[in-house]
Amino acid sequence: MTTSLTPDAHRRAVSAMFGRIAGWYDFLNHFLSGGVDIWWRRQLLNAAAPAWQDGRPVIVLDLAAGTLDVTAGILRRSPTARVAALDIAAPMLRKGLGKISREDRDRMLPGVADGRVLPLADASVAAVTIAFGIRNIVPRDAAYAEIRRVLVPGGRFCILEFGSGRTRILRGLYNVYLRRILPAMGRIFSGDPEAYRYLAETIERFPDAPSLGRELEAAGFVDVHWQKLTCGIAYVHVGVAPKP
Ligand SMILES: C[S@@+](CC[C@H](N)C(=O)[O-])C[C@H]1O[C@@H](n2cnc3c(N)ncnc32)[C@H](O)[C@@H]1O
Repeated sequence: MTTSLTPDAHRRAVSAMFGRIAGWYDFLNHFLSGGVDIWWRRQLLNAAAPAWQDGRPVIVLDLAAGTLDVTAGILRRSPTARVAALDIAAPMLRKGLGKISREDRDRMLPGVADGRVLPLADASVAAVTIAFGIRNIVPRDAAYAEIRRVLVPGGRFCILEFGSGRTRILRGLYNVYLRRILPAMGRIFSGDPEAYRYLAETIERFPDAPSLGRELEAAGFVDVHWQKLTCGIAYVHVGVAPKP
C-alpha cells in the first residue's frame, strides 16, 4: 500500500486489508506482542476511566474498534456506559461480537463508519478511545476535528498507539524485530505479506510521542499528556476537549 494513494483510496485499501486478516487478527496480535498488548489496552482503559467513573450513563466512542477488545473492556468496567463501536471493516467487528456478553449487548452499537466522518451528534460522547487505529487514518487531522466535534467539553480523547519505529528501542533489538521478524512472521502465519509489511511501515512513519502530543494540541485538545509503555514500544496519549 503506497503513500501516493488518495485518502479515500487509502481507506478502501485499509478496509479491504483488515477484512482479509480479520480471522487471524487476534491470534497474531497476542502472539507477535507476546501478550503485552492486553496490558497496553488496560492502560488505555485506565486513561479513559474518569469519563465514566461517577456512574453517569455516558456514551463512549471506541473508534477503529476492530475486534472489540477495548469495547468489551469499557462495558465490563462501567455498568452504565453505552459504547458506539465504529470501524470501516465490518469483518473485524463481526469477529469481535462473541467477546461481548449477552447482558452487555444492548449497551453497545457496532457500526461501519469512517473516523473522518462520524455519525454522531455534536458534544454527545464523554470519551473517545482508539487503539492502534489512528496510525491507519489519513489524514489524521480530519479524525481529530471529528473527535473534537463529538466530544462533550471536558471529554477525553485517549489514543493507544505504537511509538515511532524510527526511535531506537532496546539497543535496536526492537527495530530489527519490527523491520525483519514481524513482517516475516505475519507472512508465515496470516499468508498476507502486505498486511504485516504495512504494519511495520506505518509504525516506522508514525510521529514520536512529543510530535503526536503537539499534533493533538494543534488540533485544539488541552491538557495533552502521554504515558510510555514497554520502553516506548507503545504510548497512551490523552487530550481533553476544551471547555468554552
Ligand atoms: C490495528 S486494528 C485495531 C483494532 C482494535 N482497536 C484493537 O485494539 O485491536 C486497526 C483498525 O482500524 C480500522 N480503521 C482503519 N482506518 C479507519 C478509519 N478511517 N475509520 C475507522 N476505522 C478505521 C481498521 O479497519 C482496523 O479494524
